[in-house]
Formats: sequence, structure tokens, C-alpha cells
Amino acid sequence: MVNFGIVGCGHIAGKHVNALDQIANARLVAVCDSDQKRRASFSEKYGVSSYENYDEFLKDPELEAVIICTPSGSHAAIGEKAANAGKHILLEKPFVLDTSQGKSLVELCKSKGVKLGVVHPNRVKTVVRALSEAVNEGWFGKITHASAVVRWNRSPEYFNSASWRGTIELDGGILFNQAIHNIDLLNWLLGPVDEVFAYGATQLHNIEYEDVCVCSLKFKSGALGTIEAAITLYPENLEESISIFGTQGTAVIGGKSLSKIQEWKFARFSDAEAKIQADQLNNESDQTGHKEIIEDFIKAITRNQEPLVSGEEAMKVLYLIKAIYQSTKTNQPVKITSDWSVIM
Ligand SMILES: NC(=O)c1ccc[n+]([C@@H]2O[C@H](COP(=O)([O-])OP(=O)(O)OC[C@H]3O[C@@H](n4cnc5c(N)ncnc54)[C@H](O)[C@@H]3O)[C@@H](O)[C@H]2O)c1
Repeated sequence: MVNFGIVGCGHIAGKHVNALDQIANARLVAVCDSDQKRRASFSEKYGVSSYENYDEFLKDPELEAVIICTPSGSHAAIGEKAANAGKHILLEKPFVLDTSQGKSLVELCKSKGVKLGVVHPNRVKTVVRALSEAVNEGWFGKITHASAVVRWNRSPEYFNSASWRGTIELDGGILFNQAIHNIDLLNWLLGPVDEVFAYGATQLHNIEYEDVCVCSLKFKSGALGTIEAAITLYPENLEESISIFGTQGTAVIGGKSLSKIQEWKFARFSDAEAKIQADQLNNESDQTGHKEIIEDFIKAITRNQEPLVSGEEAMKVLYLIKAIYQSTKTNQPVKITSDWSVIM
């Protein structure tokens, strides 16, 4: 049994509580939020200890692991305190917003002997696991190109719902908040990336960062890629998809939030065989991924192994996003070196 506490009792914390509820060897023991109403709503509903003060929360004698669900720009400082208190850490995406803070947190967790995992739930979706297998088994032949598309709607009410939303310091930008899931998948499935070139623009919202971003990528494998991210879609979310094309295969996973196989064709299977596979996968694919991520994190703790998305793994998409932003600012392609030294 692993005893969890949650810091930040907002929107995403609800998904973690539901997931913990479904896992036999996980238990929620404490919650922490600077907002009295928010922490009370969780502690009363789930009958657990509640803390306003994060330092006191970390002293809770039952607490073994902390799930960090606070605004993105606060993850590094909140994670650092948890590591220093000897607690295992599961951090909501984005890991952190700053590469040097990310490196420090990875090192600190190693030195304190605590596990550090990051929540990238798309990686564990059934359809994405199948796509990963298809890539790793060479079903596509030579991969020629790929694309990640996020065409979502975020309303003024969304940005007004919390003061951190839409800010560079605490929210980070469209690539850190919304598109990170898909960028992580492109990099995980087809990376490493060799070079990026991108444009960003603030077309609709009164926010500090861009609400549309488009990016071209060249992978080290020679494959090409594109990213299109927008939170301006009228009148509602349209699509979150990833497409991979090769000399012997075509796959498109789409829907409003990357949940359904829309194209699944491989030279090694007849059309009928591929359709049966796609139909079966689509019937299974309704999970959010949080439960599977927490289960994997518990295994990392109890078996002393690395989580599926460790801090080091999460650094890769952090660097890639920084490179894309660098390109939007300089209007130049950014070549990515193996030590990421070009990234500002
Ligand atoms: N994995 C996903 O699919 C997913 C989806 C949505 C959000 N997120 C991530 O989860 C994080 C939170 O997002 P959200 O939408 O739940 O935000 P939210 O605003 O709904 O909740 C954040 C909560 O943190 C509390 N808080 C802020 N600073 C605090 C502090 N220093 N100490 C204690 N409590 C503090 C706030 O009072 C609030 O209740 C963000 O990093 C976001 O990117 C991930």
C-alpha cells in the first residue's frame, strides 16, 4: 500500500482522486490547498486530513508520495520541498517550465532516493500503446512524416477561472499547457528531433502567450513532421490527433482528445485484418490514463524501478518545447544538439 497526498485541489486533482479510488494498493491520506473551500471540498468528501500549509502537509506521518496538481510554474519549488522531505513525487504535466530547475529537481530526487514521475497520460492510452508497438515493430516501413494536431477551444471563462491561466510565469504557453501531450508523443515515438522552425501568434485571446502555434520538425531519422496547436477553434474543441505515415503503413489516431483510431493500414495486414485490430482497440479505448500512470508509479516505488515517464524522460519534451519557442522568438530554425546546449 502506498499512501498518497495531493497538493492543489483543483480540476485535475479530481481525476487523481478517482484513479486512486480504483487502485487497491493506493490510499489518499491528505490534501493541501491554499484555498480553504477547495481543500475542504476534497477533505470532507474523501475523509482525509487537510492542510493549508504545505510544510505542515509534508510532515503528515502517513504521507509517502505527493501528487503535485498546482499551477505549472509552481511545480519546481513544490517538488523541491517534497524531495527534501523524502517524499516520492508524481508531478502533473508540464514537469516544470524551466530547464535548469528541471535538471536540479531530477538530481535532487536522485540524491534523496525518491522516485520522480510525470503525468503524460496519453502515453498509456490503449490506442497509443498500439501505435507505439507498430512503430517499434517496423510496421510503417520507412517513416516518411508525421503530424500532431491540437485544435481546441478555450473560452474567456476558462482563462478567467484562475489567475494563473494565460500567464507566462505560471501557465507557460500553449505548447506547455495544451499541446505538450502530443508533442511528447511525437518525440517519444519518432524522436530525437534534429531541427525545428516555428511561428506563434496571439490571434484571439487576451493572454500573455500565443494561442496558435505551427511548427515544422526534422527528425534525426530523416522523417519530417509538423505540429499545429490552436486554442482558438470556433465554436468548440474539434480535434486532437497524431498521424504517422510510412512507406508501408498509415495510422491516424484522432477524435476530440486522441482516443480513436481513424486510419490503420499496414502492408503486412489485409484490410480486413487491420479493421478488426482497429475496431478492437477502439472498443477498449476510453481511459483517461491517470489510473495507469499512478499504477506504474506505485510499481516504480515498490519495485525500485524508474516510472514510465521519469523526470529525465520529461526533460526531453521540455527541451523540445523550449527549442520551438526559441524559433518563434528568433524567426530562425533551431538545430538541436545532443546536449541541448543551443537552448536558451
Ligand atoms: N494531465 C492532464 O491531462 C492535465 C489536465 C489539466 C491540468 N493539468 C495540469 O495540472 C496542474 C493544475 O491544473 P488545474 O487545471 O487542476 O488547475 P486549478 O487552478 O483547477 O487547480 C490548481 C489548484 O492549486 C491550488 N494552489 C495553487 N498554488 C498552491 C500552492 N502554492 N499550495 C497549495 N495549493 C496551491 C489552487 O488553489 C487550486 O485549487 C497544471 O500544471 C496543469 O497543467 C494536467
